[in-house]
Amino acid sequence: MTNIATKYLKDYQATSYLVDTIDLKFEIKDTFVIVTSKTKYQQNGASNSLELAGSAELKSVIIDGNELTDYKLADDKLSLNNLSANFTLEIVTHVDAFNNKSCMGLYASNGNLFTQCEPEGFRKITYYLDRPDVMAKFTTTIIGDKDLYPVLLSNGNKISEKTLANNQIEVIWEDPYKKPSYLFALVAGKFAFIDDTFTTKSGRKVKLEVYSEAESINQCQHCLESLKRAMEWDEKRFNLEYDLDVYMIVASGDFNMGAMENKGLNIFNTKYVLAETKTATDTDFINVEAVVGHEYFHNWTGNRVTCRDWFQLSLKEGLTVFRDQEFTADLHSRTVKRIQDVKNLRQMQFTEDASPLSHPVRPESYMEINNFYTMTVYEKGAEVVRMYQTILDKEGFNRGLALYFERHDGYAVTCEDFCKAMADANKIDLSQFMLWYSQSGTPHLAISDHYNEATKEYSITFKQSIPNNPTAKAMLIPVSIGLILDNGKNIIPDIKNHNTIVRDNEVILLLNEAENTFIFGGISEKPTPSILRGFSAPVIINYAYDEKQLYTLARHDNDSFNRWEALQSIYKTEINRIYHSESPDKFEINQNITKIISELLNDATIDPALKALSINLPAFAELSISYPNTDVKKLVGSIKRLKSAIANGLETQLLAVYKDNQTVSYDFNDAGKRALKNTLLGYLMQGNNTGKSIELVAAQYKNADNMTDKIGALSAINDIDSPVRHQLLDNFAQEYANYPLVMDKWFSLQSQSQLPDTIDNVANLLNHPSFDKENPNKLYSLVRAFTANPIYFNTDAGYNFIAEEIIRIDSFNPGVAGRIANGFSSIANYESKYQTLVKPQLQKIMAKENLSRDVYEIISKTLQ
Ligand code: ARG
Ligand code: ZN
Repeated sequence: MTNIATKYLKDYQATSYLVDTIDLKFEIKDTFVIVTSKTKYQQNGASNSLELAGSAELKSVIIDGNELTDYKLADDKLSLNNLSANFTLEIVTHVDAFNNKSCMGLYASNGNLFTQCEPEGFRKITYYLDRPDVMAKFTTTIIGDKDLYPVLLSNGNKISEKTLANNQIEVIWEDPYKKPSYLFALVAGKFAFIDDTFTTKSGRKVKLEVYSEAESINQCQHCLESLKRAMEWDEKRFNLEYDLDVYMIVASGDFNMGAMENKGLNIFNTKYVLAETKTATDTDFINVEAVVGHEYFHNWTGNRVTCRDWFQLSLKEGLTVFRDQEFTADLHSRTVKRIQDVKNLRQMQFTEDASPLSHPVRPESYMEINNFYTMTVYEKGAEVVRMYQTILDKEGFNRGLALYFERHDGYAVTCEDFCKAMADANKIDLSQFMLWYSQSGTPHLAISDHYNEATKEYSITFKQSIPNNPTAKAMLIPVSIGLILDNGKNIIPDIKNHNTIVRDNEVILLLNEAENTFIFGGISEKPTPSILRGFSAPVIINYAYDEKQLYTLARHDNDSFNRWEALQSIYKTEINRIYHSESPDKFEINQNITKIISELLNDATIDPALKALSINLPAFAELSISYPNTDVKKLVGSIKRLKSAIANGLETQLLAVYKDNQTVSYDFNDAGKRALKNTLLGYLMQGNNTGKSIELVAAQYKNADNMTDKIGALSAINDIDSPVRHQLLDNFAQEYANYPLVMDKWFSLQSQSQLPDTIDNVANLLNHPSFDKENPNKLYSLVRAFTANPIYFNTDAGYNFIAEEIIRIDSFNPGVAGRIANGFSSIANYESKYQTLVKPQLQKIMAKENLSRDVYEIISKTLQ
């Protein structure tokens, strides 16, 4: 069918012209927007032709005052030939913003206008060199009706505002910093706002403004406070200061992603702005703060220094995710944050890397760049940045970052430039480290060890490989390690190799060959190795721990991450036994598991949030990649079996701890207690005493003074066929009918349910009055969430439902359709009957007329 071109990193070429300045004028009419762009071009090299990307309705082309009639316009490209070395190009387009449902380019949401230009949305507005290595100074004039569009915003500083005839207003914005088109933004409409000021460390006074629709403005305070915390943190941690007089955040109810870092004018999904205790969970509060931080941190890592081309996306995203992870870790619990990030990485990125959509942190080719805003580019990219810090230490990393800004401020650069700044600032060679950007797949470490009684030496050998990338070269992998004796003592070993870093209480082994051996002297007995402390590299380790060693680590490891990790290994081992047993339903679990959980729950020194994470079992998605040809139902059943065995074995204690962790009146600082309490409620609901647990759920729901506890109650009962579940769900839908973000949670819960009517229910919910079949958040919470329901998505009806939805959504929002299509990629690891079942559905999608590049690329790669 379609002829969709693949773009390659190796084909990169600079443009034949560069841009000095661009003046944009937006005249908002009743049914469309007239956009006039006046751009000054300057030759860059020998060619005197220019190709501009664009897909808006082209009205006129004027070069240096002369209207052009014989221009060539084909395949969304405007070709201009025989150009002078310097010229001004004036282009007029009509943009159909009010019917644009793609949430890309200029689009309307509830009567207000927004832009989303990253990665290639600017070309839907005008014809331009729409690529990140073309940086220009932007001036933006916006003219609109005063009653419909009282607020008119763009990047930079407002330099004029005046009233025109016919109830029109005109506002002009000027951004003094050169930027690529993907960072352009415009907002027009009716908004309320809250404001504050922040004084930077060098004394610059910055106005901070958060805009939303009037009815939700009372939910914006947390966002504004988060912004101030982010600004302060970036000054302290990285010595980075804000550079404009105003910082604006605007919330949009229709947004494909989380948020966008447009210079001085961030546009956010309402999901990451609005947060207030009655309607947001503790996790929502943390997420709002993290995303506000993320977009703010982009001002330096992304905007001041940007990407040369989209293959380098991780240059800004991996680095900025790392920065937002550190922000959350510094403000809250570092261990809890690290565990959550690693769980997320394993469930979402390791699975991506084990799927047909596996790609390197820096992809070498793509059909549609929108498909590469992935877990690999973002989260694995953040792990890659974290490894620089692990290798160079915080001071060395900060030196590298400072040199990166010194060299590249105001430029569009590559991942090599980043690596080189890190290497040069620390006078070390990091060329091997670049393999982290180019090799796809998750590295595995096969580990063996030996203790020599006579010499008191302990040696440990690592063999690295990437199973689904057999030609991969050996990478530089930092492995943080500790040794623990049988009495629980952690020792700081005396290391005999060169490739090691010893700092404070940390020993880091630098693997750099297919096989590396490290020798430690003066060891009195065969120790238990605590490997990959703090998850020092995004790899899978295979070491044959025996049961006793795992319990030693779970109880005595000084590294809190690895204590959690040891428990996870204990659970994984048991789930594996259940999975491979004759009758999983009757499997009797190892009593040591209930014993250690009991100990943990009684330990007053462990904070409740960490207890909650420690008793959380590994998720299906994380486990499935280590079960080739996964029997989906059996694996889900095995996890469930372990959970109910723990619930029954410890019922009295779980109940007691549940009661001990009740909170009186809402205080965010009790989030850990709520997490523990709700995890325990989930356990109790899986035990045999269902009647009593349902009462607990109902009581918790009724008494809850915050959203976390309401959702905790609903989640606990979500797989239980009880009238109480229906009552609570109905009650919730009535109470929150006017809160779209809260209703998203309600849709999501139902699409995750393991009850047998789930598929029909999900299909019916598409027509629920609170649903909106064109809104990205709604589609994600119901339709995409369903692709993570292992039991019901992986059925004929489940695949058919998702295929039909992808076809429907692709016609108006390819970005969202592509993201939902991703859900099919995990099936490649399951039993072959699932592949047989899904194939005709994928073929049906491929046969759709005018299939988008987004969906075409995902589905064609999944079919391979
Ligand atoms: N740069 C944004 C962020 O990570 C993501 C925007 C991506 N948008 C898109 N349509 N692909 O904060
Ligand atoms: Zn980002």
